[in-house]
Amino acid sequence: MEPEADQLIMENLGKNFIDSFEYPETAEIHQRTVNMLAQLFNAPEYDEFCGTATVGSSEAIELGLLAHKWTWKSKRLTQGKDANHPNIVFGADAHICWDKFARYFDVEPRIIPMQENRFCIDADSVRERIDENTIAVGAIMGTTFTGACEPVKGINDLLVQIKKIEGWDIPIHVDAASAGFILPFTNPELEWDFRLQQVRSINVSGHKFGLVYPGVGWLLFRSPGDLPEDLIFYVNYLGDTMPTYTLNFSRGSDMVLAQYYNLLRLGYSGYAKVMDNCLNNARYLADKLSSSDIFELISDMQLPIITFKFKHAPNFTPFQLAQKLRERGWMLPAYTLPPHAEHLTVMRIIVRETFSRDMAETLYNDLVKTYQLLDHQEVENLQPQVSPRKGHHVT
Ligand SMILES: Cc1ncc(COP(=O)(O)O)c(C=O)c1O
Repeated sequence: MEPEADQLIMENLGKNFIDSFEYPETAEIHQRTVNMLAQLFNAPEYDEFCGTATVGSSEAIELGLLAHKWTWKSKRLTQGKDANHPNIVFGADAHICWDKFARYFDVEPRIIPMQENRFCIDADSVRERIDENTIAVGAIMGTTFTGACEPVKGINDLLVQIKKIEGWDIPIHVDAASAGFILPFTNPELEWDFRLQQVRSINVSGHKFGLVYPGVGWLLFRSPGDLPEDLIFYVNYLGDTMPTYTLNFSRGSDMVLAQYYNLLRLGYSGYAKVMDNCLNNARYLADKLSSSDIFELISDMQLPIITFKFKHAPNFTPFQLAQKLRERGWMLPAYTLPPHAEHLTVMRIIVRETFSRDMAETLYNDLVKTYQLLDHQEVENLQPQVSPRKGHHVT
Protein backbone atom coordinates (compact mmCIF):
# COMPACT_ATOMS: atom_id res chain seq x y z
CA MET A 1 0.00 0.00 0.00
CA GLU A 2 1.03 3.64 -0.34
CA PRO A 3 3.07 5.35 2.41
CA GLU A 4 -0.01 7.43 3.34
CA ALA A 5 -1.97 4.22 3.86
CA ASP A 6 0.88 2.76 5.93
CA GLN A 7 0.80 5.86 8.09
CA LEU A 8 -2.96 5.65 8.50
CA ILE A 9 -2.60 2.01 9.56
CA MET A 10 0.14 2.86 12.07
CA GLU A 11 -1.97 5.65 13.56
CA ASN A 12 -4.88 3.28 14.06
CA LEU A 13 -3.11 0.16 15.33
CA GLY A 14 -4.37 0.80 18.85
CA LYS A 15 -8.05 1.21 18.02
CA ASN A 16 -10.35 -1.63 18.92
CA PHE A 17 -12.99 -1.93 16.22
CA ILE A 18 -15.67 -3.15 18.63
CA ASP A 19 -15.56 0.05 20.67
CA SER A 20 -17.83 2.16 18.52
CA PHE A 21 -18.61 4.44 21.47
CA GLU A 22 -14.97 5.45 21.68
CA TYR A 23 -14.40 5.39 17.90
CA PRO A 24 -17.74 6.31 16.34
CA GLU A 25 -16.17 7.43 13.06
CA THR A 26 -14.69 3.97 12.58
CA ALA A 27 -18.17 2.49 12.84
CA GLU A 28 -19.40 5.07 10.32
CA ILE A 29 -16.54 4.25 7.93
CA HIS A 30 -17.33 0.56 8.28
CA GLN A 31 -20.95 1.16 7.26
CA ARG A 32 -19.88 3.38 4.36
CA THR A 33 -17.57 0.64 3.10
CA VAL A 34 -20.38 -1.91 3.37
CA ASN A 35 -22.60 0.47 1.38
CA MET A 36 -19.99 0.90 -1.35
CA LEU A 37 -19.42 -2.82 -1.72
CA ALA A 38 -23.13 -3.64 -1.68
CA GLN A 39 -23.63 -1.12 -4.47
CA LEU A 40 -20.64 -2.50 -6.35
CA PHE A 41 -22.38 -5.89 -6.21
CA ASN A 42 -25.69 -4.37 -7.33
CA ALA A 43 -27.67 -4.92 -4.14
CA PRO A 44 -31.19 -3.51 -4.28
CA GLU A 45 -31.49 -0.17 -2.47
CA TYR A 46 -32.39 -0.29 1.21
CA ASP A 47 -32.18 2.41 3.85
CA GLU A 48 -28.98 0.81 5.00
CA PHE A 49 -27.10 -1.96 3.20
CA CYS A 50 -26.42 -5.06 5.23
CA GLY A 51 -22.96 -6.52 5.71
CA THR A 52 -19.93 -6.73 7.94
CA ALA A 53 -16.16 -6.65 7.91
CA THR A 54 -14.49 -9.94 8.79
CA VAL A 55 -10.93 -11.17 9.15
CA GLY A 56 -11.05 -12.62 5.65
CA SER A 57 -13.22 -14.53 3.23
CA SER A 58 -13.24 -17.64 5.42
CA GLU A 59 -14.99 -15.91 8.29
CA ALA A 60 -17.29 -14.13 5.82
CA ILE A 61 -18.28 -17.44 4.19
CA GLU A 62 -18.89 -19.14 7.53
CA LEU A 63 -21.07 -16.27 8.79
CA GLY A 64 -22.98 -16.04 5.51
CA LEU A 65 -23.76 -19.74 5.50
CA LEU A 66 -24.68 -19.67 9.19
CA ALA A 67 -27.31 -17.02 8.40
CA HIS A 68 -28.74 -19.26 5.66
CA LYS A 69 -28.80 -22.25 8.00
CA TRP A 70 -30.69 -20.16 10.55
CA THR A 71 -33.22 -18.91 7.98
CA TRP A 72 -33.81 -22.47 6.73
CA LYS A 73 -34.20 -23.79 10.27
CA SER A 74 -36.72 -21.21 11.42
CA LYS A 75 -38.77 -21.70 8.22
CA ARG A 76 -38.83 -25.46 8.78
CA LEU A 77 -39.81 -25.11 12.44
CA THR A 78 -42.57 -22.63 11.57
CA GLN A 79 -43.91 -25.20 9.11
CA GLY A 80 -43.72 -27.91 11.80
CA LYS A 81 -41.10 -29.84 9.81
CA ASP A 82 -37.91 -31.60 10.82
CA ALA A 83 -34.94 -29.20 11.01
CA ASN A 84 -32.21 -31.63 12.03
CA HIS A 85 -30.77 -32.60 8.66
CA PRO A 86 -29.47 -29.51 6.87
CA ASN A 87 -27.23 -29.94 3.85
CA ILE A 88 -25.17 -27.62 1.70
CA VAL A 89 -24.14 -28.11 -1.93
CA PHE A 90 -20.80 -26.92 -3.31
CA GLY A 91 -18.02 -28.16 -5.57
CA ALA A 92 -14.86 -30.06 -4.71
CA ASP A 93 -13.09 -27.01 -6.11
CA ALA A 94 -14.19 -24.93 -3.11
CA HIS A 95 -11.73 -23.51 -0.61
CA ILE A 96 -11.19 -25.47 2.61
CA CYS A 97 -13.30 -22.95 4.58
CA TRP A 98 -16.43 -24.44 2.98
CA ASP A 99 -15.60 -27.88 4.44
CA LYS A 100 -14.80 -26.16 7.72
CA PHE A 101 -18.21 -24.54 7.81
CA ALA A 102 -19.93 -27.89 7.18
CA ARG A 103 -18.02 -29.59 9.99
CA TYR A 104 -18.02 -26.80 12.56
CA PHE A 105 -21.69 -25.93 12.06
CA ASP A 106 -22.96 -29.47 11.62
CA VAL A 107 -24.28 -29.33 8.08
CA GLU A 108 -24.02 -32.27 5.66
CA PRO A 109 -21.69 -31.27 2.81
CA ARG A 110 -22.87 -32.50 -0.58
CA ILE A 111 -19.73 -32.01 -2.57
CA ILE A 112 -19.91 -32.07 -6.36
CA PRO A 113 -16.85 -33.95 -7.57
CA MET A 114 -14.73 -32.70 -10.40
CA GLN A 115 -14.63 -34.61 -13.63
CA GLU A 116 -11.72 -35.44 -15.83
CA ASN A 117 -12.35 -32.37 -17.95
CA ARG A 118 -14.72 -30.31 -15.81
CA PHE A 119 -13.16 -28.42 -12.94
CA CYS A 120 -16.16 -26.60 -11.56
CA ILE A 121 -19.86 -27.09 -10.88
CA ASP A 122 -22.81 -26.49 -13.21
CA ALA A 123 -26.60 -26.30 -12.87
CA ASP A 124 -27.14 -29.99 -13.69
CA SER A 125 -24.73 -31.20 -11.04
CA VAL A 126 -26.43 -28.90 -8.50
CA ARG A 127 -29.88 -30.17 -9.50
CA GLU A 128 -28.93 -33.75 -8.64
CA ARG A 129 -28.05 -32.84 -5.04
CA ILE A 130 -30.51 -30.25 -3.74
CA ASP A 131 -33.64 -30.99 -1.73
CA GLU A 132 -35.90 -29.38 0.88
CA ASN A 133 -33.07 -29.52 3.43
CA THR A 134 -30.56 -27.59 1.34
CA ILE A 135 -29.65 -24.43 3.24
CA ALA A 136 -27.62 -22.94 0.37
CA VAL A 137 -25.69 -23.61 -2.82
CA GLY A 138 -22.15 -22.30 -3.02
CA ALA A 139 -20.86 -20.86 -6.29
CA ILE A 140 -17.33 -19.61 -6.71
CA MET A 141 -16.12 -16.76 -8.85
CA GLY A 142 -12.44 -17.54 -9.18
CA THR A 143 -11.88 -21.00 -7.79
CA THR A 144 -8.77 -21.54 -5.74
CA PHE A 145 -7.64 -24.43 -7.94
CA THR A 146 -8.06 -23.09 -11.48
CA GLY A 147 -9.35 -19.53 -11.18
CA ALA A 148 -12.54 -20.55 -13.01
CA CYS A 149 -15.80 -18.65 -12.61
CA GLU A 150 -18.73 -20.94 -11.91
CA PRO A 151 -21.98 -20.41 -13.85
CA VAL A 152 -23.90 -18.49 -11.18
CA LYS A 153 -26.59 -17.36 -13.65
CA GLY A 154 -27.37 -20.92 -14.75
CA ILE A 155 -27.54 -22.06 -11.12
CA ASN A 156 -29.75 -19.07 -10.26
CA ASP A 157 -32.14 -19.90 -13.13
CA LEU A 158 -32.35 -23.48 -11.90
CA LEU A 159 -33.13 -22.39 -8.33
CA VAL A 160 -35.75 -19.89 -9.48
CA GLN A 161 -37.45 -22.72 -11.37
CA ILE A 162 -37.19 -25.07 -8.37
CA LYS A 163 -38.77 -22.41 -6.17
CA LYS A 164 -41.76 -22.29 -8.52
CA ILE A 165 -42.10 -26.04 -8.84
CA GLU A 166 -41.16 -27.33 -5.36
CA GLY A 167 -41.49 -24.23 -3.20
CA TRP A 168 -37.89 -24.56 -1.96
CA ASP A 169 -36.31 -21.11 -1.70
CA ILE A 170 -32.63 -22.07 -1.81
CA PRO A 171 -30.17 -19.16 -1.57
CA ILE A 172 -26.85 -18.94 -3.39
CA HIS A 173 -23.79 -17.73 -1.53
CA VAL A 174 -21.20 -16.47 -4.02
CA ASP A 175 -17.60 -16.87 -2.94
CA ALA A 176 -16.01 -13.94 -4.75
CA ALA A 177 -12.85 -13.91 -2.60
CA SER A 178 -10.77 -12.69 -5.54
CA ALA A 179 -13.29 -11.86 -8.25
CA GLY A 180 -15.37 -9.48 -6.14
CA PHE A 181 -12.75 -6.80 -6.55
CA ILE A 182 -12.06 -7.65 -10.21
CA LEU A 183 -15.19 -8.43 -12.22
CA PRO A 184 -17.18 -5.30 -11.29
CA PHE A 185 -14.36 -3.34 -12.94
CA THR A 186 -13.23 -5.57 -15.81
CA ASN A 187 -16.57 -7.06 -16.84
CA PRO A 188 -19.44 -5.12 -15.24
CA GLU A 189 -22.01 -6.67 -17.60
CA LEU A 190 -21.42 -10.19 -16.32
CA GLU A 191 -24.29 -11.12 -14.02
CA TRP A 192 -23.06 -13.08 -11.04
CA ASP A 193 -24.04 -10.82 -8.12
CA PHE A 194 -27.22 -9.46 -6.47
CA ARG A 195 -28.75 -8.83 -9.89
CA LEU A 196 -29.62 -12.54 -9.70
CA GLN A 197 -32.52 -13.06 -7.32
CA GLN A 198 -31.28 -16.20 -5.55
CA VAL A 199 -27.89 -14.64 -4.76
CA ARG A 200 -28.43 -13.67 -1.13
CA SER A 201 -24.89 -13.25 0.14
CA ILE A 202 -21.42 -12.59 -1.24
CA ASN A 203 -17.96 -12.58 0.32
CA VAL A 204 -14.84 -10.84 -0.90
CA SER A 205 -11.32 -10.61 0.52
CA GLY A 206 -10.00 -7.10 1.05
CA HIS A 207 -6.49 -8.54 1.27
CA LYS A 208 -6.58 -10.09 -2.20
CA PHE A 209 -7.61 -7.78 -5.03
CA GLY A 210 -9.05 -5.27 -2.54
CA LEU A 211 -5.37 -4.24 -2.36
CA VAL A 212 -5.22 -4.10 1.45
CA TYR A 213 -2.83 -5.96 3.78
CA PRO A 214 -3.94 -9.28 5.36
CA GLY A 215 -6.71 -9.14 7.90
CA VAL A 216 -9.85 -7.96 6.15
CA GLY A 217 -12.72 -9.58 4.30
CA TRP A 218 -16.31 -8.57 3.70
CA LEU A 219 -19.67 -10.27 3.88
CA LEU A 220 -22.60 -8.63 2.13
CA PHE A 221 -26.24 -9.65 2.24
CA ARG A 222 -28.71 -8.93 -0.52
CA SER A 223 -31.14 -7.39 1.99
CA PRO A 224 -31.36 -6.92 5.75
CA GLY A 225 -33.98 -9.70 5.76
CA ASP A 226 -31.31 -12.24 4.75
CA LEU A 227 -29.59 -11.86 8.11
CA PRO A 228 -31.88 -13.31 10.79
CA GLU A 229 -32.39 -10.88 13.64
CA ASP A 230 -31.66 -13.69 16.16
CA LEU A 231 -28.04 -13.77 15.03
CA ILE A 232 -27.43 -10.08 15.64
CA PHE A 233 -26.14 -9.31 19.12
CA TYR A 234 -26.53 -5.93 20.75
CA VAL A 235 -23.95 -5.06 23.37
CA ASN A 236 -24.38 -2.05 25.60
CA TYR A 237 -21.46 -2.38 27.99
CA LEU A 238 -19.11 -0.16 26.02
CA GLY A 239 -21.35 2.87 26.48
CA ASP A 240 -23.37 2.66 23.28
CA THR A 241 -25.62 0.01 21.80
CA MET A 242 -23.80 -1.69 18.99
CA PRO A 243 -25.26 -4.45 16.77
CA THR A 244 -22.69 -7.10 15.83
CA TYR A 245 -22.61 -10.14 13.60
CA THR A 246 -19.10 -11.53 13.97
CA LEU A 247 -17.44 -14.52 15.57
CA ASN A 248 -15.01 -12.35 17.51
CA PHE A 249 -15.47 -9.40 19.81
CA SER A 250 -12.24 -7.36 19.71
CA ARG A 251 -10.40 -6.81 16.46
CA GLY A 252 -8.23 -4.12 14.91
CA SER A 253 -9.71 -1.16 13.05
CA ASP A 254 -6.64 -0.63 10.87
CA MET A 255 -7.54 -2.80 7.88
CA VAL A 256 -11.16 -1.62 7.79
CA LEU A 257 -9.86 1.95 7.58
CA ALA A 258 -7.24 0.90 5.04
CA GLN A 259 -9.97 -0.59 2.84
CA TYR A 260 -11.94 2.64 3.00
CA TYR A 261 -8.77 4.60 2.22
CA ASN A 262 -8.22 2.57 -0.96
CA LEU A 263 -11.81 2.91 -2.08
CA LEU A 264 -11.65 6.69 -1.70
CA ARG A 265 -8.14 7.04 -3.03
CA LEU A 266 -8.57 4.90 -6.13
CA GLY A 267 -12.30 5.22 -6.75
CA TYR A 268 -14.05 3.13 -9.37
CA SER A 269 -11.78 4.35 -12.16
CA GLY A 270 -8.60 3.69 -10.14
CA TYR A 271 -9.59 0.11 -9.31
CA ALA A 272 -10.64 -0.37 -12.95
CA LYS A 273 -7.19 0.73 -14.15
CA VAL A 274 -5.38 -1.57 -11.73
CA MET A 275 -7.60 -4.55 -12.54
CA ASP A 276 -7.47 -3.99 -16.32
CA ASN A 277 -3.72 -3.84 -16.06
CA CYS A 278 -3.53 -7.08 -14.05
CA LEU A 279 -5.84 -8.81 -16.52
CA ASN A 280 -3.95 -7.55 -19.59
CA ASN A 281 -0.62 -8.70 -18.17
CA ALA A 282 -2.10 -12.05 -17.17
CA ARG A 283 -3.62 -12.60 -20.61
CA TYR A 284 -0.36 -11.61 -22.25
CA LEU A 285 1.54 -14.20 -20.22
CA ALA A 286 -1.20 -16.81 -20.67
CA ASP A 287 -1.08 -16.34 -24.46
CA LYS A 288 2.67 -16.87 -24.42
CA LEU A 289 2.36 -20.00 -22.30
CA SER A 290 -0.37 -21.50 -24.45
CA SER A 291 1.47 -20.80 -27.69
CA SER A 292 4.62 -22.48 -26.36
CA ASP A 293 4.92 -26.13 -27.18
CA ILE A 294 5.44 -27.11 -23.54
CA PHE A 295 2.58 -25.67 -21.49
CA GLU A 296 -1.17 -25.97 -21.80
CA LEU A 297 -3.59 -23.47 -20.30
CA ILE A 298 -6.36 -24.63 -17.97
CA SER A 299 -7.81 -21.35 -16.70
CA ASP A 300 -10.46 -19.50 -18.70
CA MET A 301 -8.70 -16.16 -18.12
CA GLN A 302 -11.73 -14.20 -16.96
CA LEU A 303 -9.52 -13.30 -14.01
CA PRO A 304 -5.78 -12.61 -13.74
CA ILE A 305 -5.22 -16.17 -12.52
CA ILE A 306 -3.24 -18.44 -14.83
CA THR A 307 -3.39 -22.18 -14.27
CA PHE A 308 -1.49 -24.43 -16.61
CA LYS A 309 -0.09 -27.92 -16.98
CA PHE A 310 2.64 -29.60 -18.95
CA LYS A 311 1.62 -30.36 -22.52
CA HIS A 312 3.84 -33.42 -22.72
CA ALA A 313 5.05 -35.86 -20.10
CA PRO A 314 8.73 -35.10 -19.46
CA ASN A 315 10.84 -37.02 -16.95
CA PHE A 316 10.21 -34.48 -14.23
CA THR A 317 7.14 -33.14 -12.49
CA PRO A 318 5.69 -29.65 -12.04
CA PHE A 319 6.79 -29.93 -8.37
CA GLN A 320 10.37 -30.25 -9.55
CA LEU A 321 9.98 -27.35 -11.96
CA ALA A 322 8.52 -25.27 -9.11
CA GLN A 323 11.47 -26.12 -6.89
CA LYS A 324 14.01 -25.27 -9.55
CA LEU A 325 12.28 -21.97 -10.30
CA ARG A 326 12.86 -20.90 -6.70
CA GLU A 327 16.53 -20.52 -7.63
CA ARG A 328 15.44 -17.63 -9.83
CA GLY A 329 13.28 -16.22 -7.04
CA TRP A 330 9.90 -17.30 -8.39
CA MET A 331 7.41 -18.97 -6.11
CA LEU A 332 4.97 -20.81 -8.33
CA PRO A 333 2.84 -23.38 -6.54
CA ALA A 334 2.40 -26.80 -8.13
CA TYR A 335 -0.48 -28.96 -6.87
CA THR A 336 -2.85 -31.72 -7.88
CA LEU A 337 -6.53 -31.01 -8.58
CA PRO A 338 -9.21 -32.45 -6.24
CA PRO A 339 -10.58 -36.03 -6.52
CA HIS A 340 -11.68 -37.21 -9.97
CA ALA A 341 -9.24 -34.80 -11.54
CA GLU A 342 -6.31 -35.61 -9.25
CA HIS A 343 -4.34 -37.05 -12.13
CA LEU A 344 -3.72 -33.46 -13.17
CA THR A 345 -0.85 -31.55 -11.60
CA VAL A 346 -1.04 -27.87 -12.36
CA MET A 347 0.92 -24.71 -11.67
CA ARG A 348 -0.63 -21.37 -10.84
CA ILE A 349 0.33 -17.74 -11.32
CA ILE A 350 -1.69 -14.95 -9.76
CA VAL A 351 -1.00 -11.64 -11.44
CA ARG A 352 -1.32 -8.76 -9.01
CA GLU A 353 -0.78 -5.04 -9.44
CA THR A 354 2.96 -5.17 -8.81
CA PHE A 355 3.53 -7.74 -11.57
CA SER A 356 4.58 -5.76 -14.64
CA ARG A 357 4.72 -6.72 -18.33
CA ASP A 358 8.52 -6.89 -17.96
CA MET A 359 8.16 -9.38 -15.14
CA ALA A 360 5.75 -11.41 -17.28
CA GLU A 361 8.42 -11.56 -19.97
CA THR A 362 11.11 -12.58 -17.46
CA LEU A 363 8.93 -15.21 -15.84
CA TYR A 364 8.02 -16.69 -19.20
CA ASN A 365 11.70 -16.91 -20.20
CA ASP A 366 12.64 -18.44 -16.83
CA LEU A 367 9.85 -20.99 -17.11
CA VAL A 368 10.91 -22.09 -20.57
CA LYS A 369 14.65 -22.10 -19.76
CA THR A 370 14.16 -24.03 -16.52
CA TYR A 371 11.89 -26.54 -18.23
CA GLN A 372 14.47 -27.08 -20.97
CA LEU A 373 17.27 -27.37 -18.44
CA LEU A 374 15.43 -30.10 -16.54
CA ASP A 375 14.47 -31.78 -19.77
CA HIS A 376 18.14 -32.19 -20.68
CA GLN A 377 19.27 -33.38 -17.26
CA GLU A 378 19.62 -37.00 -16.28
CA VAL A 379 16.58 -38.04 -14.30
CA GLU A 380 18.79 -39.54 -11.57
CA ASN A 381 20.23 -36.11 -10.81
CA LEU A 382 16.88 -34.71 -9.93
CA GLN A 383 15.63 -34.55 -6.38
CA PRO A 384 12.20 -36.19 -6.42
CA GLN A 385 9.65 -33.82 -5.03
CA VAL A 386 6.18 -34.34 -3.73
CA SER A 387 3.43 -31.87 -3.05
CA PRO A 388 4.44 -29.88 0.04
CA ARG A 389 0.87 -30.05 1.36
CA LYS A 390 -1.17 -33.05 2.29
CA GLY A 391 -4.67 -33.24 0.87
CA HIS A 392 -5.99 -31.18 -1.94
CA HIS A 393 -6.50 -27.74 -0.60
CA VAL A 394 -4.31 -24.85 -1.49
CA THR A 395 -4.55 -21.33 -0.13
C1 LIG B 1 -12.08 -18.88 -3.55
C2 LIG B 1 -11.57 -18.63 -2.16
N1 LIG B 1 -12.43 -18.61 -1.13
C3 LIG B 1 -12.03 -18.37 0.13
C4 LIG B 1 -10.70 -18.14 0.41
C5 LIG B 1 -10.29 -17.87 1.84
O1 LIG B 1 -9.99 -16.52 1.92
P1 LIG B 1 -9.29 -15.82 3.18
O2 LIG B 1 -7.87 -16.21 3.11
O3 LIG B 1 -9.54 -14.36 2.95
O4 LIG B 1 -9.97 -16.32 4.42
C6 LIG B 1 -9.75 -18.17 -0.62
C7 LIG B 1 -8.32 -17.95 -0.32
O5 LIG B 1 -7.45 -18.12 -1.12
C8 LIG B 1 -10.20 -18.41 -1.95
O6 LIG B 1 -9.34 -18.46 -2.98
